[in-house]
Amino acid sequence: SAPVITIDGPSGAGKGTLCKAMAEALQWHLLDSGAIYRVLALAALHHQVDIETEEALVPIAAHLDVRFISTDGEMAVILEGEDVTGEIRTQEVSNTASKVAAFPRVREALLRRQRAFRDAPGLIADGRDMGTVVFPDAPVKIFLDASSEERAQRRMLQLQEKGFSVNFERLLAEIKERDERDRNRAIAPLIPAEDALVLDSTSMSIEQVIATALGYARE
Ligand code: CDP
Repeated sequence: SAPVITIDGPSGAGKGTLCKAMAEALQWHLLDSGAIYRVLALAALHHQVDIETEEALVPIAAHLDVRFISTDGEMAVILEGEDVTGEIRTQEVSNTASKVAAFPRVREALLRRQRAFRDAPGLIADGRDMGTVVFPDAPVKIFLDASSEERAQRRMLQLQEKGFSVNFERLLAEIKERDERDRNRAIAPLIPAEDALVLDSTSMSIEQVIATALGYARE
């Protein structure tokens, strides 16, 4: 089957930018698995199901009508025919995504859908468990990390560029809480795969991160 490069790591480490750059450089497909969890969270909020109840979430995950449409370098996220690209980036959806992602059967219901993105000539897979659970046989795995302050700073600039007003302290607290939940959950916790290259991007520019990752992938 087609080769996969997995890029895992906490929120705001720069995975999105790195994955997009790698997919462009290699002309490979891109899987933003976080967007799937976000869309699931949004669908659950829309349908007013209890987000604390696994049984209520599993059927929504199993039947999730999500599509990704790539138009001139930008990826639009479509839920039930509606463009939700902006809506899935709010703090409410971020928090809900990390809550629903902690349920084992919810994750199970999304596994096949994620693996279906693997296609020639190759796939760049962005997430938390791409190298550990979804594509354990990937030949190249990267774990991208950075300090929580640096990550909150980057996320703040990113949200401001998109026109959201954000409070740094609140964002930092929210990122720490979400990481804590992602790292400590029983299923698919956020940890580097044994065979992953761990990159700390705290004092690296995005250009340095991209060059290092591409160099490693081409070895
Ligand atoms: O954009 P950001 O890095 O903050 O988050 P994301 O990658 O869009 O993921 C949102 C949430 O989905 C994370 O906090 C995780 O709880 C969950 N997630 C997951 O559990 N497994 C993945 N492979 C990707 C995301």
